[in-house]
Amino acid sequence: MTNLQSPWRSDFPILQTQMNGKPLAFLDSGASAQKPQAVIDAMTQVMEQNYSNIHRGLYAVSQKLTEDFENVRSKVAGLIGAPSDKNIVFTRNSTEGINLVAQSWARNNLQKGDEIIITEMEHHANIVPWQILAEQIGVVIKVIPFTHEVTLDLEAFKDLLSDKTKLVGVVEISNALGTINPVEDIIKTCRAFNPEIKVLIDGSQGVVHRKVNVTKMDADFYIFTGHKLYGPSGIGVLYGKYDLLESMPPYQGGGDMIERVSFNGTTYREAPYKFEAGTPAIVEVIGLGAAIDYVQNIGMDKIAAHEAALLNYAMQELQQIEGFTLYGVLDTSKKAGIISFTMDEAHSSDIGMVLNQCGVAVRSGHHCCMPLMSALGIDGTTRASLGLYNNKDDIDAFVAGLKKVQDLFG
Ligand code: ALA
Repeated sequence: MTNLQSPWRSDFPILQTQMNGKPLAFLDSGASAQKPQAVIDAMTQVMEQNYSNIHRGLYAVSQKLTEDFENVRSKVAGLIGAPSDKNIVFTRNSTEGINLVAQSWARNNLQKGDEIIITEMEHHANIVPWQILAEQIGVVIKVIPFTHEVTLDLEAFKDLLSDKTKLVGVVEISNALGTINPVEDIIKTCRAFNPEIKVLIDGSQGVVHRKVNVTKMDADFYIFTGHKLYGPSGIGVLYGKYDLLESMPPYQGGGDMIERVSFNGTTYREAPYKFEAGTPAIVEVIGLGAAIDYVQNIGMDKIAAHEAALLNYAMQELQQIEGFTLYGVLDTSKKAGIISFTMDEAHSSDIGMVLNQCGVAVRSGHHCCMPLMSALGIDGTTRASLGLYNNKDDIDAFVAGLKKVQDLFG
């Protein structure tokens, strides 16, 4: 793997195609990752040969699919080191997982004046649900700032903790910068201060780039989404400690989450089922299971090593680009394969458009992290984000594209 060629690239049909007449150099996996044939096949196979609703049919097809669906819960538990499949709630995406915690756990356990601490590096998904809650019940949001090295200021964090702190929400790996945050240390600090504080980890990028163990980490809630993990969109996961999940009221009401319904009142199923109202994303859950099998067969350690080698190569090659400013930590051992930058002469949207012409897909803008961009004093960056399928050729096309930007705008 030292040749920086991904042995897994050919598993992804779209990467054999072209964009604007050039081989597709896909460097936007942070927004959504491409899908391997194994995921496409698993979803097609269900729809062609094994489809019905689940949890409802006495006939063979439904029973088989119910079993396959529930097996994915165990696969998720295995992927993130959860004690049981009962800790795993299927959601639509990370955003829905955080909204579920806000509206079910927090809305029922917090009071006016209670404090929620988040960080300056959060995605809007870990900001806006708490702001909605603040409007509803008057909780107060406090924000951990970052240092001049754009790492979380852990001393400032300790000063923010108070006897009113009820929840701390932190992104494991910043989607906008790639910075790996010290979530384990943050959880330990919370436990030492007050074991009653709950900690929610946004693992949307974490689970994609490194091996996760929520039990060792001791997170109370851990959230991720399928589409960034080479699975389909429309399916996400909320992990919760079981006593917490059991204590929480349903988030939405409807079919499948009930035990008994009458006009005099309704009783609910146990967790995690009481949080899954209505027909779930059946085909997408099967696709997520195939994606988990796919990454686990490769091994998260091998994926991380490949991405780290490519990141080091990219950082070295990017030194050739004049007027290039990288945001986030420079130390590649403290960051995932995400390169967020500005160029002196060109706006991020101009860079994105020139790279598009070169067959290179990146994201330009605020990356759903407007407060982070404001704190950095910019309106946005261009972001190249790596996946397990990227190659040296992708980085070379990216760097060549940036030289073209220089020629056009410099
Ligand atoms: N949150 C996604 C990103 O980082 C969409 O681009």
